[in-house]
Amino acid sequence: MSDFIYIENAKQFVGQTVTLKGWVSNKREGKGIVFIILRDGTGFCQCVVTEDNSGIENLNNAQSCTLETSVNIEGIIALDEKQIGGIEIQVTNIKIIGESIEYPIAKKEHGIEFLMDQRHLWLRSTRQWAIMRIRNTIIFSIHKYFQSQQFIQMDAPIFTGNACEGTSTLFESDFYGDTAYLSQSGQLYGEAMAMAMGKIYTFGPTFRAEKSKTRRHLSEFWMIEPEMAFYDIFQNMDTIEGMLHFVIKEVIENCKTELETINRDISILESSLKPFPRMTYDEAVDIIKGKVPVNGVYSIALLEKELKDAEDSLVAIDNEIEEKEKKIASGSLKKGEVNFMTAKVIQLKQEKNDIEELLRNIPTWLNSARNFEYGNDFGGSDETVLTKLFDSPVMVYDWPHEVKAFYLKRNPEDNRFARGVDVLAPEGYGEIVGGGERETNVESLIEKIHEHQLPMEEFEWYLDLRKFGSVPHSGFGLGLERLVTWVCKLKHVRESIPFPRMYGRLKP
Ligand code: 4AD
Ligand code: MG
Repeated sequence: MSDFIYIENAKQFVGQTVTLKGWVSNKREGKGIVFIILRDGTGFCQCVVTEDNSGIENLNNAQSCTLETSVNIEGIIALDEKQIGGIEIQVTNIKIIGESIEYPIAKKEHGIEFLMDQRHLWLRSTRQWAIMRIRNTIIFSIHKYFQSQQFIQMDAPIFTGNACEGTSTLFESDFYGDTAYLSQSGQLYGEAMAMAMGKIYTFGPTFRAEKSKTRRHLSEFWMIEPEMAFYDIFQNMDTIEGMLHFVIKEVIENCKTELETINRDISILESSLKPFPRMTYDEAVDIIKGKVPVNGVYSIALLEKELKDAEDSLVAIDNEIEEKEKKIASGSLKKGEVNFMTAKVIQLKQEKNDIEELLRNIPTWLNSARNFEYGNDFGGSDETVLTKLFDSPVMVYDWPHEVKAFYLKRNPEDNRFARGVDVLAPEGYGEIVGGGERETNVESLIEKIHEHQLPMEEFEWYLDLRKFGSVPHSGFGLGLERLVTWVCKLKHVRESIPFPRMYGRLKP
């Protein structure tokens, strides 16, 4: 039994004296009184230290606490709905465990590169805490879903001899004198495991050398890869949808505080609990190009309207900033009003940045919509244009075989297409899942392996799967960080993983 309780459970102990252990995440002081916001990883709560109730020695201890000092606090729990977590502690004893001198992350705004350099400490901040807890719920619910559906979790190797997803993003490593690559995907092994176990999923780290800085690419990311024997592409899509529905529901139900903490408007998560629209590549292209409407809305008309709206908002926000700055400069305001106004201006400038970013992006998206060339893979802006028209993820299947991986099955009814499926998240996020039905015809596979200039000898074992009791089968890969990024509506995938590894970032 531990000798302290967690903030998350504190409501069960109202009226009792308890011990909490944690860190000082915020502190306010008045005459003879100190308010500490304590965090312990499970939650936050206000602790009140007064000379009358706690004694002078405890008051002195509390006064000497700085940001991130670790403390042992004893006190009586009182219900207080106004407070964070709905409780407050009247402190009877506070002891410092570890001091914290000049904690580098202050309450003021910091630049992103600074925060990334301080990632080992930044993880303690409220927003990062909430994101990591949502990530945890997503991971747990993925396991819950697959385990309840009789999938067996199996692990694919990380050192591999072959490329699964093209040769341009391989990380090379030395394996006792042989060249090995860090796995881009466990899929090929997943196929072998599905032939042994029926339905499996892998859940492990994967690696891609993506030599460009984008908001959706990591060099190391976690992928969940189910593989199902006897499933065709449509049963595959049912599985993807079932899994995502389950995960989103679990997050909505179990992460209320966390979603509120990051100000996530959950209406689009809720509308994502209905069946996802499914369309072929051809149908998606017509929507992107503005030839076919979705619920009466055409892509190009929508983008033109968004551009006009953004231009109008920019003018309005500039006027508001100017007006407020004039007032601040006039000297006629009280100190409190100046502070309030100044905070408002900072917020408006942030909003202005977002609008300016939109004004840079919308013309790119419009260009995508107007000039998309049939037969190409979708780029980030094509995905954005398409998903803007929907309030849930969409599934696009039957892609031109030239733009997809070597292992995808051709559509038997129309050989131009491969039976791949991508799931694109709304709100501009784009691809979160890639998958499809696998080619079972040995000749077609051999042809594709040659076409992709892959070393045949590395794929002998893979071809065996087609020689000994071959069956139709399908699977997919869910990018964990892409899903977390969308669910939390983050601007960049780097905040969705504890210690991101990406082009230009190996530390801390
Ligand atoms: O679409 P991808 O490349 O598909 C595969 O790897 C298949 N072998 C999966 C399968 O069928 N078993 O990658 C799958 C997903 C993408 O949809 C995306 O969510 C994520 O992995 N992903 C990345 N996430 C972060 N950073 C990167 N550089 C990523 N590359 C892919
Ligand atoms: Mg893909």
